[in-house]
Amino acid sequence: MQTSRRAFLASAAATAVALRGAKLLTAQTSAEASITVLADEPIATIAPEVQGHFIEQLGGVVYDGVWVGKNSKIPNVTGIRKDFIDTLRAVNAPVLRWPGGCFADSYDWRDGIGPKRPQRTAFWKQEDANQYGTHEFMHTCRAIGCEPYLAADLRSLPARDFYQWVEYCNAPAGIGNDLAAQRSANGDKEPFNVKYWGVGNESWGCGGDQTPEEYAGEYRRFANWLPTYPQVQTSLVACGPNGDDIDWSRRLAAGLRGHLPWGLSTHYYTSGDPAKFAAGEAIDFTLPQFYDLLARASIMDRVITDAWSAFGENDKNHHTKLVIDEWGAWYGDSTRLAPKYNLSQQITLRDALHSGITFDIFHRHADKIGMANVAQSINCLHSLMLAQDDKFVRTPVFHVFRLYMAHQGGTSLRTEVVAPSIQNTIAQTSPVGGASTVGSTAAQKTLSGLSASASRKGNTLTLSVTNPHHDRPLTTTISFPGLGMRSASAEVLTHTDIHAHNTFAEPNNVTRKPATVAAIANSTLTHTFPAASITTISFSIA
Ligand code: AHR
Repeated sequence: MQTSRRAFLASAAATAVALRGAKLLTAQTSAEASITVLADEPIATIAPEVQGHFIEQLGGVVYDGVWVGKNSKIPNVTGIRKDFIDTLRAVNAPVLRWPGGCFADSYDWRDGIGPKRPQRTAFWKQEDANQYGTHEFMHTCRAIGCEPYLAADLRSLPARDFYQWVEYCNAPAGIGNDLAAQRSANGDKEPFNVKYWGVGNESWGCGGDQTPEEYAGEYRRFANWLPTYPQVQTSLVACGPNGDDIDWSRRLAAGLRGHLPWGLSTHYYTSGDPAKFAAGEAIDFTLPQFYDLLARASIMDRVITDAWSAFGENDKNHHTKLVIDEWGAWYGDSTRLAPKYNLSQQITLRDALHSGITFDIFHRHADKIGMANVAQSINCLHSLMLAQDDKFVRTPVFHVFRLYMAHQGGTSLRTEVVAPSIQNTIAQTSPVGGASTVGSTAAQKTLSGLSASASRKGNTLTLSVTNPHHDRPLTTTISFPGLGMRSASAEVLTHTDIHAHNTFAEPNNVTRKPATVAAIANSTLTHTFPAASITTISFSIA
């Protein structure tokens, strides 16, 4: 069994190389690709938190996207947009990060509690009346049923304010703590029990333009003697690299002098400035730009392995997990929802394929990643939702979160893929292949012809597959050596146009549909993945 599988893989690989870019047919079967799920090679449990979320006081994200106010005609739950809550419940959102992003490093949490809320000029010269603060955020998380994750201001507030925010959130009622009494007077007697705390944000940039050594010193000051409470285990997240900045990870780990955080925040955006990086605009892009963006999404793999090994030089037992705090595609302004909605953009099928490729990478590195938060969940870069006043739509990225939901908490299984790869013609001619990041500018010249990941939970095996070929369905042999498979059901997200997206007027242009799966014989199945599609197949293990 093993020998014939390896023989098949070797021959398919050779064929793929020989006929790359041309029409491809294998000798014995009509399959052009193969996926082999290795049930006896578990990687690790996929932390549900890899499907995490992020909202920031930025553009139309919080004000309008999340917070509409209690007196709004827009359906809301204590002022929070109901559609936002329902959508994050629909994807079983495990965690929500707030208030930033760069905004976090100029935010005083005291502005957002109690009846008197000062108006401030916040991030990107936006006026912020502070109607949405700590309590409103906690109510949002409670309504969704997810863990709150707060990012503390390290650039403009002293460590004492951080300690006191922790006290305000986590000190139990009735122990005589003044901040717990204030929280209670402001409407929430019971502690919020916030587990995840970010210590600064992008400290190499908007968070103070610091060197790794400077930040390491700040981190030690902020993290030392933090108040802790028995009912909640505090997990701190330190500011990690900008993309593939190995130097930052290495020097930070050394500078922390053993004060290892629970998580290392890593940001990787796929595109940056479109003028520089040629990714095209959100809905206006060429075919080479389509493939270039997806190829650069694949750089996430390198970002993860590089941060892991560079930080690991001073964390040999890998106490610290990676937190991919911000990820997604970042385009220009051409599809901005309205002038004040900074960084809002349309989301197409291309971004859905990007999401499938990204989640597969997270699953391959399930042993390394503790959390990942899409940037950002609504009215922003790689959003699941767009909202403006009473108009609301779910994007193709929402559907990918739905397709991957079944992987939460599953055991990631090593999955071998053989498929005809795709040339990234932009990277072939330009040395720039990165994003708004430091080290990841080395071009990714080819894109894997299929991306896949599998996980097992009890007797259910979930396989997700992204076919990035814009016009080429791929007939694929899927096998599970050593596993008896019973039945399968599948859902697929695809469209004939890679630019397809959902609008307020046409909300279901790109949506998931059931897919037919052929009978499984001898633990093997042949399935054709449509061009430009993301498919999840759910199997019962006999
Ligand atoms: O997500 C938008 C911005 O991108 C965040 O504020 C910042 O952390 C990053 O640079």
